[in-house]
Amino acid sequence: MKRRNFIKTASITGVGLAIGSSLISCNDGISKESANQNEDAIVDTMRRPLVVATWHVKAATAKAMEILQTGGNALDAVEHGCKVEEANKKNQTVGNGGLPDRDGNVTLDASIMDKYGNCGSVMYLQNITHAVSVARKIMEDTPHVMLAGEGAKQFAVSKGFKSEDLLTESSKRAWEKWKIEAKYKPIINIENHDTIGMLAMDNNGDISGACTTSGLAYKLGGRVGDSAIIGSGLFIDNDIGGCVATGLGEAIVKTVGSFLVVELMRQGKSPQQACEDAIKRITNKPKSNFRDFQVGYVAMNKKGETGCYSIQKSFSITKFHNGTNEHIQSDYFNKS
Ligand code: GLY
Repeated sequence: MKRRNFIKTASITGVGLAIGSSLISCNDGISKESANQNEDAIVDTMRRPLVVATWHVKAATAKAMEILQTGGNALDAVEHGCKVEEANKKNQTVGNGGLPDRDGNVTLDASIMDKYGNCGSVMYLQNITHAVSVARKIMEDTPHVMLAGEGAKQFAVSKGFKSEDLLTESSKRAWEKWKIEAKYKPIINIENHDTIGMLAMDNNGDISGACTTSGLAYKLGGRVGDSAIIGSGLFIDNDIGGCVATGLGEAIVKTVGSFLVVELMRQGKSPQQACEDAIKRITNKPKSNFRDFQVGYVAMNKKGETGCYSIQKSFSITKFHNGTNEHIQSDYFNKS
């Protein structure tokens, strides 16, 4: 819908009535430029609240939207949205039920950022399902940003998190099958899930983000991916926007992917263009072996515009906006 028609429609609906009438009064005696700025502000407001996430995770985005629609903030929305997938034992790339490392240990990475630029991250966490909530506790209850391994687990237990076995029968069977050949070739789920990353904008227009993963299946013990690295798997600047990543963490870390996307938006790129440029930063590298792995980004700017792009086919996002919880296929780079 064109912006003018959109505003016209909005002004005759219940939702748009108040701002519609304020537009009419604002237009009296003000410059065309100011009027256009007002229109832009109204359109931006109409985009809230908004949730986007990597992959097909409608239950997770629905949870986040429920929080936003009942007056919750973006930080609560992304935490509780991510928790839905962490608790989903059928999702073998996140939380409880995640595929283990080569030694059979399920180890989790997660991070979270709020509207103030505060951040918390946890890496190589074992036996705790809700890594994203541990990351939030680190952000809010400690002077630190990151905790790793045994220290992170002890911290979580001290905060009341339950210690449990995260290796499900199904993930154990998959690992035992993998062990027969035990080829150390990182497996990235090109056509399935990987990291769940989520961005939300609340009714105040504030943005937060989070991501959570069990990382590469059958990775070396001790390996940490992008999801725990602020700026790589996740970055938020509440003046500009946010980005979350999925795919091969090593490639994302080497280009500080999510930070790059936000900085490109700061330079004036749309979320879509910023995601495309950040993917090309990977594929354009000399000797890039981009055909062998997947990376995907989803971004949101302060206007509530969104974009996504990946290297390979079959990356998708879920976007909950304006009463619709949609699963959307992403465009991608490798069309050869
Ligand atoms: N993006 C998840 C990982 O590489 O660990």
